[in-house]
Amino acid sequence: MVENATVKEYPNTYRFSIEEPEKFWGKLAEENLEWYKKWDKVLDDSNKPFYKWFVGAKTNIIHNAIDRHLKTINRNKVAFIWEGEPGDVRSFSYNAVNREVTKMANIIASMGVSKGDIVTIYMPQIPELIFSMLACAKIGAAHSVVYAGFSSTALADRINDASSKLLITADGGFRRGKIVDLKSIANEAVEKSPSIEKCIVVKRTGQDVKMEVERDFWYHNLCEEPFVNNKCPTVEMDAEDMLFILYTSGTTGKPKGVIHTHGGYSLYTSTVLRMVFDLKPIDRWWCLADPGWITGHSFIVYAPLILGATTLLYEGAPTYPNPDRVWSMVDKYGINVFYTSPTAIRGFMRFGNSWVKQHDLSSLRLLGTVGEPINPAAWEWYHRVIGQEKCPIMDTWWQTETGGFMISPYPITPLKPGSATLPLFGIDADVVDEEGNSTAPGEEGILVIKKPWPGMARTIYKDDDRYKQVYWSKFEKQGWYLAGDSARRDEEGYFWVIARLDDVIKVSGYRLGTAEIESALVSFPKVAEAAVIALPHDIKGNAIHAFCILNEGTEVTTTLEKEIKDHVRHEMGPIAVPEKVNFVLSLPKTRSGKIMRRVLKAKAQGLDPGDLSTIED
Ligand code: PRX
Repeated sequence: MVENATVKEYPNTYRFSIEEPEKFWGKLAEENLEWYKKWDKVLDDSNKPFYKWFVGAKTNIIHNAIDRHLKTINRNKVAFIWEGEPGDVRSFSYNAVNREVTKMANIIASMGVSKGDIVTIYMPQIPELIFSMLACAKIGAAHSVVYAGFSSTALADRINDASSKLLITADGGFRRGKIVDLKSIANEAVEKSPSIEKCIVVKRTGQDVKMEVERDFWYHNLCEEPFVNNKCPTVEMDAEDMLFILYTSGTTGKPKGVIHTHGGYSLYTSTVLRMVFDLKPIDRWWCLADPGWITGHSFIVYAPLILGATTLLYEGAPTYPNPDRVWSMVDKYGINVFYTSPTAIRGFMRFGNSWVKQHDLSSLRLLGTVGEPINPAAWEWYHRVIGQEKCPIMDTWWQTETGGFMISPYPITPLKPGSATLPLFGIDADVVDEEGNSTAPGEEGILVIKKPWPGMARTIYKDDDRYKQVYWSKFEKQGWYLAGDSARRDEEGYFWVIARLDDVIKVSGYRLGTAEIESALVSFPKVAEAAVIALPHDIKGNAIHAFCILNEGTEVTTTLEKEIKDHVRHEMGPIAVPEKVNFVLSLPKTRSGKIMRRVLKAKAQGLDPGDLSTIED
């Protein structure tokens, strides 16, 4: 049906998917997934905006990602290949994944975790990270993966919000040839997290780490226990039960715990991956992202496994030990489809073409990008040098909250560099003005989604009000989802995403809230007030620039900027460290005290700051 749509059929199929969403999604759910029990209703919209999908159905994402493959010839095919930064390789068939996940699930259950609990995972990019996620899902617990680049404070905040009893971590990981000492960071975090009772520690690097008796357990020791090999049935879940929480940045300082579910998320992520990248069991797929973010959750872990494909996970830095690390791996593993961010592409580009030319990339048939708008020079290089002018580039626009791709080409869609092209089937996207009228072609406006979709976040953990307020209050009357981005559509209806409309900035594709960084800055004893803005950066897309007012009598020493940067690194992690810290005597504010970041930004770029009538001073 929909999979065979050609360019000409796109409008008809698209119209059908928007006008008859229950038929559209119901048919896909029936044809492509197995369910323990079918649903009574595809979509329940009786309590907007808290939509429910596949109501009454029983499922578990693990059934579709692992269990059902064990009954087919997929059982012995490679599910994923992992390469460590030092060059060590491990690979796992679907059968082996099942064995490893069963072991981990038995161990997690033995720690007192059961259906409905939330387990926090803080791990390097090693196979046990994936097994931990899958094992939680298997026993009906939700996982909350915290990106391994986050600091102990950020980790503790997330553990406390989720009230996790169990933390799964590792002694460390390899990055740029060095050991990242995750266990010390985890230890610091656990001291500030009273809910944690137990810690599972995977040995990756082998360096000495501090283990707390009766709290910390080495994973390899636990694996010696006879019970780990017991059968572990996959727990039947309601389609709407929580699969995971993922914390992401918003306008206020506190990160939001976005919730995704077993049923709708299984269907949505696997459907869009099959449609956009035409991914099949014979394919070798590489999503070069971190499993700690939504891109990794959906497109390293869950969707490729549901589709029975082979997925690749790499531990380390993409240009280590040489700038051709990634291309040597594409060649070595015969990758067919490669997906990454514009920042990564710009990072590869600056080393020139000779590093790429040393490798045979002829296995590639499709390329993809995500996370920020891609500039024409990076698009062109990716197409010409990596794709050798034969691989279409799927520029996928989506968000942590959307679960999967939303606006993106299909392989047959005519492309325009820098545009994510058109909404996928079932996605009713538009660009509107403040009143909700569609903007004219070429005119910038607010990106909205007008109808629910199965992969949408269901709420913010423990904060339904914030969910309503952040995403649904701006166009409450119309019942539209506010994405938080500005965009325009051209004459042919193609979408061009421009930037965030709120106080969220994208640095190297990472999503950060200005308020989070500012609160880290003012927690430095010498800083009285702070504001941060994003300014364009050649590689990172945007870079963070901080403006700080110092406490009375503080001297600006030669080391002060570094001290402040180190403090932010400690409070939040390396991704939040400002490029530059500027010391100022005042900050432009409205009369109600809100910092006018656009004025700072204009001044920093030497541009006209625009209307200053609301400025206080
Ligand atoms: O601003 C958009 C940008 O990334 C935001 C979502 O960030 P996050 O939740 O971290 O998810 C990133 C991975 C899905 C969006 O609101 N963004 C994402 N993809 C694109 C993009 N901007 C332009 N083009 C894209 N393809």
